[in-house]
Amino acid sequence: MILLALFTSLLMSCSQKNAPNEDHQMKVFIDDLMGKMTLEEKLGQLNLPSSGDITTGETSSSDIAQKIKEGQVGGLFNIKTAEKIRAVQKVAVEQSRLKIPLIFGMDVIHGYQTAFPIPLGMSCSWDMGLIEKSARIAAQEASADGICWTFSPMVDISRDPRWGRMSEGSGEDPYLGSQIAQAMVKGYQGDDLRKNNTILSCVKHFALYGAIEAGRDYNTVDMGRIRMYNEYFPPYKAAVDAGAGSVMTSFNEIDGIPATANRWLLTDILRKAWGFSGLVVTDYTAILEMTDHGLGNLKEVSALALAAGTDMDMVADGFLTTLKESLDEGKVTQQEIDQACRRILEAKYKLGLFEDPYRYCDENRAKTEIFTPENRQVARGIAAQTFVLLKNDNQTLPLQEKGTIALIGPLADNKENMTGTWSVAADFSKSVSLLEGLRNAVGTQAQVLYAKGTNVVSNPKLDARISIFGKPTQWDKRSQQEMIAEAVAVARKSDVVVAAVGESAEMSGESSSRSDINIPENQKELLEALLATGKPVVIVLFTGRPLTISWEKANVPAILNVWFAGTEAGNAIADVLLGKVNPSGKLSATFPQNIGQIPLYYNHKNTGRPLAEGKWFQKFRSNYLDVSNDPLFPFGFGLSYTTFDYKNLKLSGLSLTADSKFTVSVELTNSGNYDGAEVVQLYLRDLVGSVTRPVKELKGFQKIFLKKGETRIVEFTLTEKDLRFYNENLQLVSEPGDFKVFVGTSSDNTLEAGFVLK
Ligand code: BGC
Repeated sequence: MILLALFTSLLMSCSQKNAPNEDHQMKVFIDDLMGKMTLEEKLGQLNLPSSGDITTGETSSSDIAQKIKEGQVGGLFNIKTAEKIRAVQKVAVEQSRLKIPLIFGMDVIHGYQTAFPIPLGMSCSWDMGLIEKSARIAAQEASADGICWTFSPMVDISRDPRWGRMSEGSGEDPYLGSQIAQAMVKGYQGDDLRKNNTILSCVKHFALYGAIEAGRDYNTVDMGRIRMYNEYFPPYKAAVDAGAGSVMTSFNEIDGIPATANRWLLTDILRKAWGFSGLVVTDYTAILEMTDHGLGNLKEVSALALAAGTDMDMVADGFLTTLKESLDEGKVTQQEIDQACRRILEAKYKLGLFEDPYRYCDENRAKTEIFTPENRQVARGIAAQTFVLLKNDNQTLPLQEKGTIALIGPLADNKENMTGTWSVAADFSKSVSLLEGLRNAVGTQAQVLYAKGTNVVSNPKLDARISIFGKPTQWDKRSQQEMIAEAVAVARKSDVVVAAVGESAEMSGESSSRSDINIPENQKELLEALLATGKPVVIVLFTGRPLTISWEKANVPAILNVWFAGTEAGNAIADVLLGKVNPSGKLSATFPQNIGQIPLYYNHKNTGRPLAEGKWFQKFRSNYLDVSNDPLFPFGFGLSYTTFDYKNLKLSGLSLTADSKFTVSVELTNSGNYDGAEVVQLYLRDLVGSVTRPVKELKGFQKIFLKKGETRIVEFTLTEKDLRFYNENLQLVSEPGDFKVFVGTSSDNTLEAGFVLK
């Protein structure tokens, strides 16, 4: 039953593709335009500089404005407001020879001015409707501010929490990551890119950026093809299948060739195998960086990038300044230049910019559509869905809305750190801190006392490094002893302690790799002192990555992981702490016990010497002397204030055939005292394969809301397609034989049954 990969690429749904007639009209229009363009003007289209945030007054006098007039710029990014963008667009369409409009991009990653939780947090909602909605609102707000192109979604699979950019993606799983990639593309692009409130999406970073060695940003990647196809490629392909209009190359190399010059990747895979017809843009200065990779000078690497299938050069100026000479020398062809230029013009055409270059420049929309109370309300609701309750002994949570609550910690009263990485359009002064949120929520019902307790980190040099981008940790000059003493005094006066600890926003994100992913030692000292008061302590954990919190898990009765929850963070956290919302988030990335276990992920291979189930150590088995193989918290894990029982796992038959439908059902009961939602997860294991197969793979999930006491039969449908994988010859196949199916509350807590694929 071998089904070639080609087959699936033919089945792709390309929602953003034009109808044949529109394609024809577009071709005629662009043929005509390109017929009038000089070589220099074509190269100008391939150039994407950063605006350096031109102010309106400088619009016509800046160096960039001069280039725009000369037709040397195809688009700009890092510029916002309808007014500024209108002014710059005016230069392009009134003062350049051919009046070609510019495309305006920005990193609209998790919301615009209304910031949603960081992507890693969003993925823990496992709610595709909400994720799509967040992207829809982001597109609405960004487009009201002049922007028509976002550098999102970031879909890099990562299993290494040392990497700070894990915060920007959807975690470790290809299936969940693919669903999210599609939801994001749909949210941004809607059903019609020409509308003034939809924007072009850009799936990034193509490819494999999340697999950099040692979690050190921008580092080398080396990966076998079977892993690449089965585990790392799916989310990029899913975004392409959903119609993503553009793709961004990654900084890393693949098989010794940086992605930006990797013809196999950009042409053979992306375009030929997956049928992608949109535009490929580089990451920031990625062309120039290939000189440091050791591939030649700017002229040589620019030629390599173009020939590989890159269309647009972000910031490196390589295409603009060197391709003419390379053409004269026969190093690149006119056809390659024309092809790249055409793809950029097509993107502009699809956005409707030739019809109306000011389509996204309606100053009135900005006044009424950005940071609206409605959008903030949605952001608050979504944020609460992303929190993961990691521990809750003795029902410490929810808090009672009475008595005295001590709110302590370096992240308790800090607005700037609520939105996390990549929130360039957010106005931090308008974010809701936890202190504000909690005080608003309890009103006069309870008293909230506050003390900072300690700084985020104890080393001032490190503090400076994590406060570079305007998200200060608000360094407190008092001694650690003095701050802890104040906090302990506040705790003693209170009934319960809420400790707002973890990472500050800039401890994750780009260029924020860590070799130690504990909560900083000074914060741990604070926790020890708070626990010593004998008061119940709840950790509200801020983080952009899985952390090694073994000590905290062993010693603190309750832990609520809130990531960086966006503009409405404080209100949403208060909603969950006080039980107005029952937490339902589930981890999309494994929390390791210690850093030595990394990479640790649920869908690993079995090896030839697996450790027997339930064992810590066996000689000559695949394990460690000093730590068990178990994660601290597994993929898919997350508690609720209520409890859910699973029973009666049933299959519709014992075997599945290519054309049959197969159902798997389970009886789910909310057996606790609160209404709540549960993410029911379905995993498969292919017991015998022509290549080794993972011990478990997520293949389905459903988020089910049940009132307390309610029972529901939850049903999944499986087809032969769900059993396919890329084999030794990189063909997408399913292989007859025995399978196991697992359904449950997390990757390590499931009911199981067996079936056969005939
Ligand atoms: C990042 C990209 C981002 C680009 C433009 C780069 O440094 O890697 O994710 O889209 O900058 O801001």
